[in-house]
Amino acid sequence: MRLTIGVDIGGTKVAAGVVDVDGRILEKVKHPTPVDGDALADVVCDTVEELAAHHPRDVIDGVGVGIAGFVDENRSTVVFAPNLDLRGEPLRDRIRRRIDLPVVVENDANAAAWGEARFGAGRGVDHVVCVTLGTGIGGGIILNGQLFRGRYGVGAEIGHYRVVADGRLCGCGNRGCWEKYASGRALVAEARTAARDAPERAERLLKLADGDPERIEGHHITQAALEGDAAALECFAVIGDWVGQGLADLAAILDPERFVIGGGVCEAGEILLGPIRDSFARNVTGGGVRTLADIRIAELGSAAGIVGAADLARR
Ligand code: BGC
Ligand code: NA
Ligand code: ZN
Repeated sequence: MRLTIGVDIGGTKVAAGVVDVDGRILEKVKHPTPVDGDALADVVCDTVEELAAHHPRDVIDGVGVGIAGFVDENRSTVVFAPNLDLRGEPLRDRIRRRIDLPVVVENDANAAAWGEARFGAGRGVDHVVCVTLGTGIGGGIILNGQLFRGRYGVGAEIGHYRVVADGRLCGCGNRGCWEKYASGRALVAEARTAARDAPERAERLLKLADGDPERIEGHHITQAALEGDAAALECFAVIGDWVGQGLADLAAILDPERFVIGGGVCEAGEILLGPIRDSFARNVTGGGVRTLADIRIAELGSAAGIVGAADLARR
């Protein structure tokens, strides 16, 4: 049996699993994400050692690490991470100092996209664009069955595609980036603003957040929307509209067969997907004439990054 360790470094937690060649996670662990770069490599190493200890030495063939940032073409250094505050972080080398296994570092969304393309909602399709809606927006582009990386490893940074001239300030330093309008965090910002501006319309949302607009989180908005709350549904409509516009632009450039939408907000299902599909149909060039990509919700949930990073480490 060949097993690989997949690690998914997010803003709040480091999740890792032992993954087999069929994309199954046999065992999983989770630890909080530390703040600085050195400590980060240590947490990854602890996690890998913890998982590896449960298996014979020669069964684990490598480690794939996904992280929310721009990773260089050698799958080694985190060049820039707009939402994690890392620059030029030699993550692979730091991990390799302690772990005697092949290690590759991948962009988190590329890893998740690869996981979905191989084992999830993109299975059997050669042209897939995955869009992960979270703190930022992650992109993963699969063309002709291959992961597109660009020349320097940092292709598919679709979250920083600018949709509004002089718009909202992004963690990357630019203004108007798509992720400031269409991410999970943008959904939360939308709901908090609504609750501050018109508390009488946002009663349900406020109740779920103990009366404090700043305590509204994504799962509150999803819960309220699933109950049919108008204010929460409106937030999904706004974000869905922005997502659909971005997909229309991506379709103009890439013409995929399928879009896969991932991230925690997808738990809202059709409540999110409906507005996305409407907006996509309204905005896409050549709509009604050309054959269009279908749009689906990701299937692997939070496991996609672990499974995808592990599978990419084998290639
Ligand atoms: C980062 C990407 C990352 C995405 C999702 C963006 O802000 O630039 O590298 O994939 O967020 O985590
Ligand atoms: Na990416
Ligand atoms: Zn940006």
